[in-house]
Amino acid sequence: MNVLRFSDIAASGRARGQRVFIRADLNVPLSDDGQITEDTRVRASVPCIRMALDAGAAVMVTSHLGRPTEGEFKPEDSLAPVAKRLGELLGREVPLVSNWVDGVDVQPGQVVLLENCRLNKGEKKNKEELARKMAALCDIFVHDAFGTAHRAEASTYGIAEYAKIACAGPLLAAEIDAITKALANPKRPLVAIVAGSKVSTKLTILQSLAKNVDGLIVGGGIANTFLLAAGFPIGKSLAEADLVGEAKAVIEAMKARGAEVPIPVDVVTAKAFAADAPATVKDAADVAADDLILDIGPKTAALLADKLKAAGTIVWNGPVGVFEFDAFSHGTETVARAIAESPAFSIAGGGDTLAAIAKYGIEKDIGYISTGGGAFLEVLEGKTLPAFEILSRRAAG
Ligand code: 3PG
Repeated sequence: MNVLRFSDIAASGRARGQRVFIRADLNVPLSDDGQITEDTRVRASVPCIRMALDAGAAVMVTSHLGRPTEGEFKPEDSLAPVAKRLGELLGREVPLVSNWVDGVDVQPGQVVLLENCRLNKGEKKNKEELARKMAALCDIFVHDAFGTAHRAEASTYGIAEYAKIACAGPLLAAEIDAITKALANPKRPLVAIVAGSKVSTKLTILQSLAKNVDGLIVGGGIANTFLLAAGFPIGKSLAEADLVGEAKAVIEAMKARGAEVPIPVDVVTAKAFAADAPATVKDAADVAADDLILDIGPKTAALLADKLKAAGTIVWNGPVGVFEFDAFSHGTETVARAIAESPAFSIAGGGDTLAAIAKYGIEKDIGYISTGGGAFLEVLEGKTLPAFEILSRRAAG
């Protein structure tokens, strides 16, 4: 994908003395008393801000936080905790500026955080008047918010249309590069893991990947629906019987391309969904009417591990079992460790996947960990994200 990159602009000296507006995704989880409980996104936004400061720019940064009502400020919608954390990470004070749409006072070498951009009227609907005002605040607009790249809002899309220069920040560029490497020009075999509770929420992803990948590993409730499609009993397990036809179609589409959807040969079951429920390993054909399938079995995990170790590229979204419960975590752990040991380029994304990566401490062994939730899923669906579309259009002139 051809987009202008802020790293090139900064390196060429063209950002010196310029007003740079960075749209970051600082939408972090907060506790009831307003403490940031997970700061990955704040840390991920630092390289772009540093790059702009080092390049001698006057730096404005904004983000949304949650989904506030436009025009109605409430203290819990404030980016104040983020300004504080950003200040700690940058080693300097980061002033938080409210009511900033009509003008921002910031000098070269300074950085300010502009209050929650979703408080501005017209943000969500990408109103032209707001987008033009934001574009007028800067000389260079830098989109560095991959987590919000699937939204066409005033601060993510409209501003990119009207700013003098619109480019991708280092985080967005890294995501573009990793996605291109994994899905557009993958080293084969390309193996995807799509797991989660429901086929319905990931059906378009499964259908899209079925046209591209060499192996499609399904897990969780999704695998149960595929087990049903393959004619296996699943007892009381979570599944969507009405989507068996769709699951069969995915299996057939893969077969027609000489690719496969490996169906579990064994599973771990329990009689209740509980951390202390006794776990039983059994062949997929032996699942009883009152069983719940809560993980893949060891034979299946070993088969999948072999496939992952032989892959050229791996795309990972979702744990294959209820990995939060130790007795049902072995499948996900085996898969995670196989990805970590595989020479394949791997890209992982999604909240549960990131939690599994953290649980097994394999962050350094994953090729790229995406900061996107919904945005990552839309990429897997094969959609062109609005951020990529507008930035490549602007780069084309
Ligand atoms: C996210 O948390 O996935 C992003 O920040 C996007 O948030 P949104 O779904 O409220 O647009």
